Amino acid sequence: PSEPPTVSYYVPFIGSMIEYGMNPIGFLRRNQKIHGDHFTFLMFGRRMTVYLDIDGNDFVFNAKQACATAQDAYNSMTKPIFGEGVIYDAPSSMMMEQKRMVKAGLTVPCFRAYIPIFIKEVNQYVDKHWTKDEDTVNLLQSISEMTVMTASHTLMGPEIRSKLYEGVADLYHTLDLCLSPMRFLFDWLPLPSYFSAQKAHDELDRIFSSVIAERRKHTGKKHVDMLDALMDSQYKNGDALPDKHIGNLLIALLMAGQHTSAATTTWALLNLATNRDVVDEVHAENEARFGRKLGAKNFPEPSYEEVKGFAVLDNIVRETLRIRAPISQILRKVISPMAIPGTNYVVPAGNYIVASPINSATDEKYYKAAEDWVPSRWNTAEKEEDMDKATTDYGFGATTTSARSPVLPFGAGRHRCIGEQFAYIQIKTILYVLLNRFDFSLDPKCGMPERNFRSLVVFPQGPVMCRYKRRSD
Ligand code: HEM
Repeated sequence: PSEPPTVSYYVPFIGSMIEYGMNPIGFLRRNQKIHGDHFTFLMFGRRMTVYLDIDGNDFVFNAKQACATAQDAYNSMTKPIFGEGVIYDAPSSMMMEQKRMVKAGLTVPCFRAYIPIFIKEVNQYVDKHWTKDEDTVNLLQSISEMTVMTASHTLMGPEIRSKLYEGVADLYHTLDLCLSPMRFLFDWLPLPSYFSAQKAHDELDRIFSSVIAERRKHTGKKHVDMLDALMDSQYKNGDALPDKHIGNLLIALLMAGQHTSAATTTWALLNLATNRDVVDEVHAENEARFGRKLGAKNFPEPSYEEVKGFAVLDNIVRETLRIRAPISQILRKVISPMAIPGTNYVVPAGNYIVASPINSATDEKYYKAAEDWVPSRWNTAEKEEDMDKATTDYGFGATTTSARSPVLPFGAGRHRCIGEQFAYIQIKTILYVLLNRFDFSLDPKCGMPERNFRSLVVFPQGPVMCRYKRRSD
């Protein structure tokens, strides 16, 4: 048995780093044509074994913990940001328990409480910043700010949200600067961003501790948010989640959800800005649902069930995630040799295995005009099955659910995302408010942006300028 074929390169050690770094998706497609679904490439001394298509998705997402781990692949990148003892810095079984605890803040009663907050935050933002009747704005920046307001308010609670203007937003930003693929490659290098991240993290710790202490003093007052859910959590052995880990988990959740949701919402709006027919479908559905024409001021506050039921918006988010999944590469580090079923290949310990579900999601084999954004392609019953699976399968414990699916923007198996439903209602609610209040069109100078692969989350290449025009009632 041998390792899958190696992609040829010119510079030893560096290998394919530059080509891969500039456009990983193009790199994988080109090499898939040459080598098929499995190949290895060298990147700054690391051997990365790619396995594409639906079998590759299953191979990586359902890799046994004894063979390949996410902890060994990601912890050097995430520890400076999330802090100690949580997610990839915790033993695997403890991390699973932490994911279970987080689910307590992502229940239907929580979602019911979160919708009005999303709406209030988006309205406040546009009332303050989008004051003209029409203008050109940096859409990615605006959407990122709306996302951080909505996520901080609902997950961390009103106290932390109110401190966003007192410097907490800057602390998040400092942490963001450290969240880069560079840390994967240069984990031994004391990059300056690492030290600033540590300082920012300590400062956030202090703020979280004081908010937690304040809440513990007023035990009678309950909040419906993630912070209260975590403060009430216990490990199976009866130990409470330490306060320091509560803060670290909140930071981890914000980081996991912030860029992914902001990128998805921005890509969705950019596509809506060039697809007037889809916007008309959103308005037609809203008007049918609420029995009257909705405008910039007279739109009602939907319930959680109504947001969940917005079918056109659902298709829009689903289709955006298909062609612009914000997390395009999934990594695990191999700790015990892994045979690739049905081949003579074995991936040795020390290699990384890489899946790229966006590769299968945009493969003509599965979707006609696979690179085109066509939300109506999801007008099928298949979607309902997916959603059912999404509500029940969080990948805890057993890892037997197959991941042989072309579209997996939220992953699969034991590391599957727990924020999918939160992300859907957050993005749909933000879109609902914005589309009722404004019409969007691409800025002729900027057009439809390319993808920026320099960050871990794939954003539109900036500055992402877009035009809004206030709708009348
Ligand atoms: C895991 C995508 C939003 C929390 C994941 C994974 C993906 C993903 C692909 C699996 C990573 C892997 O297997 O290596 C997304 C996308 C989002 C989103 C596309 C939005 C559009 C959120 C939100 C939260 C969140 C809002 C929190 C509220 C997490 C957590 C994990 C995770 C805790 C588990 C990590 C693990 O077990 O290794 N997400 N996510 N995500 N996500 Fe999300």
